[in-house]
Amino acid sequence: MNKGNIILCGFMGCGKTSVGRRAAEFTGRELCDLDRYIEERAGMTVSEIFSRYGEEGFRRLERQAAREVAGTPGLIIASGGGTVLSPANVEAFHSAGGVIVFLDAPLAALQERLKNDKRRPLLQVPDRRRVISELYEKRIPLYRAAADVTIDAGAPPVTVARRVARLEKNLDNTRDMR
Ligand code: S3P
Repeated sequence: MNKGNIILCGFMGCGKTSVGRRAAEFTGRELCDLDRYIEERAGMTVSEIFSRYGEEGFRRLERQAAREVAGTPGLIIASGGGTVLSPANVEAFHSAGGVIVFLDAPLAALQERLKNDKRRPLLQVPDRRRVISELYEKRIPLYRAAADVTIDAGAPPVTVARRVARLEKNLDNTRDMR
């Protein structure tokens, strides 16, 4: 079996963690949730990191975490919504043989899933709907550019996870097409 990492990317709320958990079960891979990894390393929540060190401080820890986990083979990595916006992180995943999968969920579904979020620092703003729309417009082309494969993530997590698990068989072809 091919043991390059499968990295899930996409907008906040697209299901990276919940799809990743189920896809890990289907494939027998271990799930690494990058935000949780960062939190464990820092001994702080993502929100605490943002408020103490700012977004730039968080991105620094995120780059370090991406480098570290990219080197462990056989994982499904649930990245954060901003992880693959950094070319250094994309390069770290790719150079270790990873395949990046964009979970593409429609904006309306993301707005709905995120409307009551209290955890994500970027969304604790009064005009949340507008912030989500603007970030979405800016980021979608970047997810597409970073990804080797795009999966429709408008379906329930278990369905999307089956789509991810199916990729396992074709990882070598996916990499060759890059
Ligand atoms: C972020 C998304 C979050 C987390 C941090 C920044 C982003 O992860 O990494 O709050 O820039 O989109 P999720 O996508 O898992 O919420």
